[in-house]
Amino acid sequence: MSQKSLNQIRETFLKYFEKNDHKIVESSNLVPNNDPTLMFANSGMVQFKNVFTGLEKRDYQRATTSQKCVRAGGKHNDLENVGYTPRHHTFFEMLGNFSFGDYFKEKAIHYAWDLITKDFGLDKNKIYVTVFHEDDEAFNFWKKIAGFNDDRIIRISTSDNFWSMGETGPCGPCSEIFYDHGDHLKGGLPGSKEEDGDRFIEIWNLVFMQYEQVSKDKRIDLPKPSVDTGMGLERISALLQGTHDNYETDHFKKLIQSTSNIVKKKPNQSNLSSFRVIADHLRASSFLIAEGVLPSNEGRGYVLRRIMRRGMRHSHLLGSKEPVFYNLFETLKNEMSGSYPELKRAESLIKETLKMEEEKFLVLLERGIKILNEEISKIDKVLPGDIAFKLYDTYGFPLDLTEDILRNKSLSIDTKKFQSLMKESRELAKKKLEGVWRCCS
Ligand code: ALA
Repeated sequence: MSQKSLNQIRETFLKYFEKNDHKIVESSNLVPNNDPTLMFANSGMVQFKNVFTGLEKRDYQRATTSQKCVRAGGKHNDLENVGYTPRHHTFFEMLGNFSFGDYFKEKAIHYAWDLITKDFGLDKNKIYVTVFHEDDEAFNFWKKIAGFNDDRIIRISTSDNFWSMGETGPCGPCSEIFYDHGDHLKGGLPGSKEEDGDRFIEIWNLVFMQYEQVSKDKRIDLPKPSVDTGMGLERISALLQGTHDNYETDHFKKLIQSTSNIVKKKPNQSNLSSFRVIADHLRASSFLIAEGVLPSNEGRGYVLRRIMRRGMRHSHLLGSKEPVFYNLFETLKNEMSGSYPELKRAESLIKETLKMEEEKFLVLLERGIKILNEEISKIDKVLPGDIAFKLYDTYGFPLDLTEDILRNKSLSIDTKKFQSLMKESRELAKKKLEGVWRCCS
């Protein structure tokens, strides 16, 4: 069987569920329009939150989506890890199937097993699953449907197997599907001490939505038991393309190759993380700008600015003195606008925003790096927090960039001091703002 591209894998997933009476629903925006508690959509169920709780009705009871997600800021924040691991992203696509009071555990497990072992052709002997420790039902369905012995179904008692979208919202026990990438990689089964290694990788999370957390101490039943599942498209693509590293998939290889052509440098062991950061951050930035989020010093715009600037610093690290992101966008557009036409619609806004921000940032960067290097030459191991703060406050140099540079030199930062100065400055800004309101109202 020839290898499927990431785009084809997305298609296979959606078509599988369409064939099984699910409606293919478009991804919702990254900026949630029904949820002020959330900065960005961070999972497929976000657009269906009110359908689960019964507040909203749709004309279908089964849906499937490929949802744009950003995890940078808030409960799920992966920004600092991106570039340094094979599987972290700020932007990713979550494939999912949903039942709104229609099927529950048995069918959810049946569909998942059918898809991964037949359409995706995964080797059954490499699959393990977890269930919430008291969920005998899910345990028994796995035995029946997959024919697993007890030792392939691991009971987990922690929040790893009880999924919630945040402090409040729909939640329930979950069952995760893991794939064994082989004993040449380090890592242990879920629940073991070595579970965080690269060997056993979670590929799909099936959530049996049953409750709604309405406040910190109060949980009520949902109107009807429901299903919410999430499978990272980048991760399953890696697996189906014979690697455990998402950045080795056809999609990321294209973005990395295109970066390499533009900066005129080949990826190697020492600069690979920069190529990965750029590929990831280009995706997050472009999709956010396409929705009208613009870089700023507050809220969503600030998160975008941090992502952009982190990415742009890495293009600078690769030796580029000119803006590169807006040139890279073409490759991203070719790769993804088939599924996400907003990339085409917002092309000029995206390119202009990327270019302007990078030009501005390159000036700041040169100046900030010069100051930081002077300070580094004066320290032994720890950079004082007031220096990092001055870089941030006066020179627009974000803390995570300072941390990133220090990390590469095995140095650290006095974050406590930085945070206290940050707090003071925020309070001052708040007071100033209050003054403005008083004098203008
Ligand atoms: N909502 C579930 C998750 O994000 C499927 O893992």
